[in-house]
Amino acid sequence: MKFLIHTYGCQMNVRDSEAVEALLVAAGYEKAEGEEDADIVIVNSCTVRQKAEEKAVGKAGNLIAAKKITGLMGCAVKRMGEDVFRRLPKLDFAVGPRRFGLIPRILERIRAGESRILETGDDEVPSGMDAHPDSGKSAGSFQAFVTVLLGCDNRCSYCIVPDVRGHEYSRPAREVVAEVRALAAHGVKEVCLLGQSVLRYGVRNAAWEGEGPDPDGYTEAFPRLLKELCKIDGIERIRFTSAHPRGCTDELVRVYRTEPKVCRHLHLPVQSGSDRVLAEMGRRYTRAEYLAAVRKLRDFDPEFAVTTDVIVGYPGETEEDFEATRSLMEEAGFDNSFVFKYSPRPGTRSAKLPDDVPTAEKERRDQVLLADQEARGQRRNDRLVGTVREVLAEGPSKRNAARWSGRDSGNRIVVWDVAEGCRETVGARVKLRITAAHPQILVGEKV
Ligand code: 5AD
Ligand code: SF4
Repeated sequence: MKFLIHTYGCQMNVRDSEAVEALLVAAGYEKAEGEEDADIVIVNSCTVRQKAEEKAVGKAGNLIAAKKITGLMGCAVKRMGEDVFRRLPKLDFAVGPRRFGLIPRILERIRAGESRILETGDDEVPSGMDAHPDSGKSAGSFQAFVTVLLGCDNRCSYCIVPDVRGHEYSRPAREVVAEVRALAAHGVKEVCLLGQSVLRYGVRNAAWEGEGPDPDGYTEAFPRLLKELCKIDGIERIRFTSAHPRGCTDELVRVYRTEPKVCRHLHLPVQSGSDRVLAEMGRRYTRAEYLAAVRKLRDFDPEFAVTTDVIVGYPGETEEDFEATRSLMEEAGFDNSFVFKYSPRPGTRSAKLPDDVPTAEKERRDQVLLADQEARGQRRNDRLVGTVREVLAEGPSKRNAARWSGRDSGNRIVVWDVAEGCRETVGARVKLRITAAHPQILVGEKV
């Protein structure tokens, strides 16, 4: 039987889908080319905003109409619980984010005649966390995601993630190191470590249990993990996401200073620049503390790339609050930013507050921040013209096969023309002199 997985949401979902793919292949299923030749289709869902949930659930509905064996997995399942079968009465199965390891077994049960199977267990560590498809290669051919921290205990007022992804659990460092070693042995050069707030690795449960104190003197679990992964031969780059400013400790900066493999990019969601809104959101930092964290990174390296998430239209967000967000974004000099319109999520603290910023006003604020970011991205990238950046080649550009694309350590996309008769290799290190800059892209030529 052939299966297909459609993935919505964040990198964490992408990684969970990869693990399910590997589990299903190991159980004897075959990956389908497309929907037409698939017998089983699984939709991995997101619920962070209402629109995200609607997309995934709508997709599952269409597949049911096409008479495929249809399963829904991921965050929206956990949020809906039993309701998922009221929304989708003909859905075959639904599994929450912490139970995807059960999918092979569930498919057996369905083929034996069972229907409407629901698994939403809370804090399990899914089996198959370390399963990778295609002999260990995922995403691009030389890049792989590795989940290090499950769940989230931060409880920001607006966020449904702690309800759907459960409590924080740090995978033992020994397991993570073994997984990255196995990936490296399969040709993976770049890993991206995943967690909702990855710098809380090893906080709620010990990650280095039984390993003794670090010989290099690291006392914090995450910087120690980064340092340890840097020792693995074949691994050339380590990224991680997402981060919280409280995690920007001196030990993290020490890893940056001593380990060139750790990428000079941090995704550091700020959400708002207004101290009043930050306090209401329960973000546990002030504007000044956030900016101090950014300064720490840029003092270390002025080209350090910092990207962010921002919410516009949080309940009670005034014009003044919004202007504070605007000015913070300018002060922080974000290299890129993602703006989201506030969406009340059932059961969260902020859902009890009136959603009082009109949709049109949310839209306006969104557009203003996007325009600001375009101009700022252009300015930040203009400064790189004339410099030489090193990228790992990812592949030919989709629009123009004579042009290749790759990313530098700061996660900036750089494209370059490949001369006729010349060949590039996926995953190769390429040095490029930057000749032109756009808000989200750099153009270079080989040196
Ligand atoms: N409404 C709008 N945006 C949200 N995010 C999280 N919850 C909500 C919500 N209820 C945004 C945050 C987070 C990103 C993944 O999604 O900015 O960083
Ligand atoms: Fe969506 Fe959040 Fe779940 Fe990721 S963790 S899929 S963003 S709800």
